[in-house]
Amino acid sequence: MYFTLTGINHHSAPIEVRERAAINTEALPAALLRLRQYAPHSIILSTCNRTEIYAAGPHAADVSGACTRYLRDALQVTEGSLATYIYTASGEALFRHLCSVACGLDSMVIGEYEVLGQVRQALTAAEKAGMVNLPLRHLFEGAIRSGRRAREETGISKNALSISSIAVNKALAIITDISNAKIIIIGAGEAGRLALRIARSRGAGGLVVVSRTEQRAVGLAVQYGARPVSHDQLIAEMRDADIVITCAASPHPVLHYKQVSEAIDGRSGLPLVILDIAMPRNVEPSVQELPGVHLYNIDDLNHIAEGHRLERETEVRAVERIIGEEVAMLLKWWQSYNARPVIKSLMQRAEQIRSKQYGRSVKKLPALSGEERQAIDLLTRSIVDKILREPIMFLKSGAGKDGSEVISRLFGLDDESEP
Ligand SMILES: NC(=O)c1ccc[n+]([C@@H]2O[C@H](COP(=O)([O-])OP(=O)(O)OC[C@H]3O[C@@H](n4cnc5c(N)ncnc54)[C@H](OP(=O)(O)O)[C@@H]3O)[C@@H](O)[C@H]2O)c1
Repeated sequence: MYFTLTGINHHSAPIEVRERAAINTEALPAALLRLRQYAPHSIILSTCNRTEIYAAGPHAADVSGACTRYLRDALQVTEGSLATYIYTASGEALFRHLCSVACGLDSMVIGEYEVLGQVRQALTAAEKAGMVNLPLRHLFEGAIRSGRRAREETGISKNALSISSIAVNKALAIITDISNAKIIIIGAGEAGRLALRIARSRGAGGLVVVSRTEQRAVGLAVQYGARPVSHDQLIAEMRDADIVITCAASPHPVLHYKQVSEAIDGRSGLPLVILDIAMPRNVEPSVQELPGVHLYNIDDLNHIAEGHRLERETEVRAVERIIGEEVAMLLKWWQSYNARPVIKSLMQRAEQIRSKQYGRSVKKLPALSGEERQAIDLLTRSIVDKILREPIMFLKSGAGKDGSEVISRLFGLDDESEP
C-alpha cells in the first residue's frame, strides 16, 4: 500500500493558478465524485493556501499519475506547465507534510487555527463519499492528533493571527477614524465572522455585513453590532465606504469592474480600499485599474504574515518535535500494516506444517488419550508461536520490502509445493 500527495499551494503557485484548483465546501462532494474516477481512495484538502490530494493505492506510480491527471484537468493546463506548479510526495515526506499542514506550520499565517478544522472536514467529506480506506483514515487521524497536540502543548497558536485578522489590521492601519469608518464585509462564513469579531474588538463603528442569504448576514450582524445588507444593496452601500473586505466562498467573482466603477462614480477621488481574502478571488483583478481603488489579495498580505512567522521561531521548533514523534508513530504503523500480508502467509504456512505433522504423529500413536492429544496440540502450537515471534517482530518493526522478501525466501512462502 502506498500513499501519494499531489498538490499546489502558496509556495508553489501564484494566486491566479491556485484559485483555479480551489474547491469550496459546496463544490467538494461533486469534486470528490470526479476524483473517484481517477483515485478511488483519496481525500481532497482545499483551503485558501492549498489544494492537495492525498491518495492510497497498491501502486504508487498509478495513484500519483491519476491524481496529477485530475489536477491537470481541474487547472486546465498542459502537462509541461503543470510541472512548474505542483509538488508530489510519498512515504515519510508525505506524513511530515500533512502533519505540518495540520499544525499550521505550512500556512501563510503560521499557527492559524482554521486549518486543523479544515483537515478534519476534508476527512469527513471523503468519508461521506465512501473514499476513505483504513490507511487514509489512520494517516489523517495521526495528522489531526499532531495538530491538536501542537495547539495544546506549544504556544504556536497563542494569539495567532488569521488571514481575516491580518486583513482587518491592514484596513484599520489605513483608516484614521476607526469608530466612524465604514467597513463592508462581504461573506458571512468563518472568515467573515473572524473579520467582524476583530474589527469590532478594535473599535470599528460602521460595520456592514453582506451575505447571499439574508438570515446569515442578520445572524452575524446581531452578534457583532453590524448592519446586515443584501447583495442587491451592495453597490449603493459602497458609494461611501472606506474599506471592503471580501470573503465569500463563491467560485466566481462577486465584485465586477462595472459594479465597482458604478460605486466609485461621484466619490470625487475618495480612496476605496478593497481587501480580497477569498480563494478563488471575489474581486475581478481589473478593478485595481479604477482610479482611487486600492485592491489587495491574499498574496499581497504575505509579507505581514512573514513577520508573524519570524516571531514564532521557538514555537516552530517545539511543534517540529511533536511532528517528529507523530511521524515516527505513523511510520511504525505503516510498516506494520504493509507487513500484514507476509505475516499472514507466514502464519498460514507454519500452521499448515504444524497441523500436518501433528496429524501424522497422532495417527502413529493410537493409544493416546484425548487429553494427551490436546496437550501435544497445545505444545506444537506454542513451539510454532515462539519460533515465529522474532520474524514477526522483525517484519512489524520496519523490515520493509527487502526484509519481507528475505522472510518469504527463508520460510518458502512463495513455494506452492506441499509442506
Ligand atoms: N476560513 C478561513 O479562516 C479563511 C481564511 C482566509 C480566507 N478564506 C477564504 O474566504 C472565503 C470564505 O471562507 P469561509 O471559511 O468563511 O467559507 P464559508 O463559511 O463557506 O463562507 C460562506 C459565505 O460565502 C458565501 N457564499 C458561498 N457561495 C457563494 C456564492 N456562490 N456567491 C456568493 N456568496 C457565496 C455564503 O453566502 P450564504 O449566505 O448564501 O451562505 C457565506 O456568506 C473562501 O474563499 C476562503 O478560501 C477563509
